[in-house]
Amino acid sequence: MKATMARTALVLSMFMGFASFVIIHVYGENSKVGRFPGSHYHDQMSSMRSLKTSLLRRVSISLPPSSISPLPSYELPESSSSRIYHATAYGADPTGKTDSTEALLRAISDAFEAPNGGVLMQGIINLGGAEIHLEGGSYMISRPLRLPVTGGGNLMIHGGSLQASGDFPVDRYLIELSASSATDEEIKQTSMEEQLSSSSYTYEDITLKDLMLDSNYRGGGISVIHSLRTTIDNCYITHFTTNGVLVQSGHETYIRNSFLGQHITAGGDPGERNFSGTAINLMGNDNAITDVVIFSAAVGVMISGQANTLSGVHCYNKATGWGGTGIYLRLPGLTQTRIVNSYLDYTGIVAEDPVQLHISSTFFLGDAYILFKSINGIVNGVNIVDNMFSGSGKGVDIVQLDQSKGAFKNIDQVVIDRNNVRGMTVRATVARGMAQGNGSSWTVDLNKVLLFPNLIKHVQYSLSTGKSFPNHALRNASGNRVVIESDVPVPASVYVTVDQGMVTMS
Ligand SMILES: *[C@@H]1O[C@H](CO)[C@@H](O)[C@H](O)[C@H]1NC(C)=O
Ligand SMILES: *[C@@H]1O[C@H](CO)[C@@H](O)[C@H](O)[C@H]1NC(C)=O
Ligand SMILES: *[C@@H]1O[C@H](CO)[C@@H](O)[C@H](O)[C@H]1NC(C)=O
Repeated sequence: MKATMARTALVLSMFMGFASFVIIHVYGENSKVGRFPGSHYHDQMSSMRSLKTSLLRRVSISLPPSSISPLPSYELPESSSSRIYHATAYGADPTGKTDSTEALLRAISDAFEAPNGGVLMQGIINLGGAEIHLEGGSYMISRPLRLPVTGGGNLMIHGGSLQASGDFPVDRYLIELSASSATDEEIKQTSMEEQLSSSSYTYEDITLKDLMLDSNYRGGGISVIHSLRTTIDNCYITHFTTNGVLVQSGHETYIRNSFLGQHITAGGDPGERNFSGTAINLMGNDNAITDVVIFSAAVGVMISGQANTLSGVHCYNKATGWGGTGIYLRLPGLTQTRIVNSYLDYTGIVAEDPVQLHISSTFFLGDAYILFKSINGIVNGVNIVDNMFSGSGKGVDIVQLDQSKGAFKNIDQVVIDRNNVRGMTVRATVARGMAQGNGSSWTVDLNKVLLFPNLIKHVQYSLSTGKSFPNHALRNASGNRVVIESDVPVPASVYVTVDQGMVTMS
């Protein structure tokens, strides 16, 4: 066993050594960018593309680990079809000292010059996998990098940092996938129906990857509007005042393996009570957030669209005690949200009139709990099962009701069960209890466990006595109290199981 592992490790390290050799080589060559002779950036670009093409060839021929040999050299061809647009080749300043907005917008504009790659969705030009390469630089921008309104798809922006300048507009985003330059205020005023009814998409398959985005407390990080199949991967988004990421209409924005926080902190920050903004605001359908940490924001994830899924999301953005919320589901009536394998750390989940909501395999730490907020009094099709809750022993309920706008009255198919709880109070829609005594009446009070007041839809019981076979019956189940009576006094134990949420057949 050990020998096998050692061998595996050796092979791995050989492979990794080789991989880093290749990468160093490529980057070494790329570092010549910007030092090309020639006056115009287009000249530089075409030289760059040629070089890149030759590099790719060299790398591919030297790939088999067994045949590492001196790299052959190639003549640079006259022209190349490489579609990697290097920021510095356009005069962007990778030190972040001077404004790079114009240079980066020119690079983006060139990347949107269509090759003959046809179209993706109707009206969306296929940009053929073009890349805007930030080359590990840190660029200051004073206006949003808004993708061309003509739209396009199959493009990546990656590999560096962007920072908003001191005069960046506070109602915009560093990167905007947006055909309109609407401000957040204008977006808010567009109704969800209007947003969803618009069937036209502007961007498809845009990837924003390996980026650090610093909004410098001026506006947001990324807006994704009317876009299809967008990827935000390995991004660190900070110092936003509005949203770290805003997704509006369109569908399938996948946000994964990323870190978002208004302030750079590692928890227990003395300024936590003042944290504001929303890290991820999903105002659309069918998006996914996977393996994301949210370390500072008033709201971690705000969801007002349907059929979104969250997995591996760790929220410690702002404690409930300071008025923060980890995940806020603001789509009363039909949320269709799934939250699995996540970690709500001193901050909880709020769901307005949840209809179709699933929360499981999630860890709630520090008295974090789930709150159902009544808007029209509806809870339907909700599963909260197989989670872990851990608290400080103050008796905080794991699931709570906010009925300040009216009681929940339309309750169906709600299953809150099988959660394990330490230092908090279990709340469930399924409860089991027992009463013992010598007499003819037994009452089992389940109010300490049942979530909804005065709601028992189904009762099962058994009466156990060693003495005789009395007649007995269920007499009453109102007020979450089950009363069993027998015709003659007997010493007996009564076991009861009740359910508040199951589908009942009449
Ligand atoms: C939070 O904000 C209030 C007023 O907005 C301010 O007085 C207070 O000093 C701030 N607290 C911290 C810790 O920054
Ligand atoms: C139960 O109560 C009856 C009187 O109601 C008494 O006769 C009987 O001994 C009691 N049985 C036990 C096991 O205590
Ligand atoms: C059931 O118990 C409640 C009190 O919990 C009482 O108000 C009601 O009258 C009882 N119903 C019957 C049928 O005894």
